[in-house]
Amino acid sequence: MIILSIESSCDETAAAVTESGRRVLSSEIHSQIDIHTLYGGVVPELASRSHIQAVQKLSELALRDAGVLRRDLDAVAVTFAPGLIGAVLVGVSFAKAAALSLGIPIIPVHHIRGHVAANYIAHPELEPPFACLVASGGNSLILDVRDYTDYRVLGSTRDDAAGECFDKAARVLGIGYPGGAQIDALAQSGDPEKYPLPRARVEGHPFDMSFSGLKTAVVNLAHNARQSGRELDLPSLAASLCKAVSDTLVSRAVEAALALGYGKLAVAGGVAANSVVRRSLLEEAEKRGIQTYLAPLEYCGDNAAMIGCQGYYEYLAGVRGSSALNAYATLSPDSPVCRFR
Ligand code: KG4
Repeated sequence: MIILSIESSCDETAAAVTESGRRVLSSEIHSQIDIHTLYGGVVPELASRSHIQAVQKLSELALRDAGVLRRDLDAVAVTFAPGLIGAVLVGVSFAKAAALSLGIPIIPVHHIRGHVAANYIAHPELEPPFACLVASGGNSLILDVRDYTDYRVLGSTRDDAAGECFDKAARVLGIGYPGGAQIDALAQSGDPEKYPLPRARVEGHPFDMSFSGLKTAVVNLAHNARQSGRELDLPSLAASLCKAVSDTLVSRAVEAALALGYGKLAVAGGVAANSVVRRSLLEEAEKRGIQTYLAPLEYCGDNAAMIGCQGYYEYLAGVRGSSALNAYATLSPDSPVCRFR
């Protein structure tokens, strides 16, 4: 089954062609970083406008690179939630028009379920059930993936996402935008024990997380250093931050995998590209006999291939959008809304 998939939930426009949930025939991404760098964060209206300009061309490119004709397509999959509402609407509207004009079904895909499916691309042997950590710029979630389309949220962040913490820290330290990858690179030469940073726990909710205190701690360090004219050891601060985020994410993920007892733990989302998180997950999970699956680096960040892969399984489960398909700014990946049946 050949699917054209579209992703436009934040600041990347993406189109891909995938086959039967596991094989990527093409994957095109147009990043808007240049536009938003000027403002130090994503400007929603500019994001929507840029999606409108890019989505058609990118889809044509995806078809061309895959060597697939429009008439070869069996369905169009699209991210319908969650994300910046104007941005998601662009993708949904385009996908509806494409599906309608080609006379093929449209498959609504939850963005987080798509992130999870990035693992299916690299790990053909991975099948549910498994525990999954999804950490990105907007979400930090611990999931019980009971089946391809049967999710349960075990824990989530109570405030900021892990990626937001990296991005804000990078901004205040003058490292750039979005800062996660730069902080990761800087951390390679730093001492992760130099700056004592907080790790929060939510009492009574072992899988929940909180990153706002950590974010504030880094902001305060930066401001205090500036006011007193002291130099910060940036590589060591970056390394300490990576370690603090990693300790929080990895402990929740491994504890969830143990509690579920599936013996399998997958990791996805932009922050899953972090080298400290990846290394620590592999080490900690191995110690406890848990098989770990890391989403490949090229599919950790937002992309449409992961949407096409999850779209295949949604299709098999009977999920179909109609011409009235709408976009949602917020929606849990275990919401009954995702069923569309
Ligand atoms: O999944 P993604 O592309 O978009 C969302 O769905 O949010 O994730 C983007 C986030 C940003 O916060 C970015 O700074 C972070 O992922 N990120 C990283 C790394 N690469 C990207 N964070 C830490 N280390 C990295 N290597």
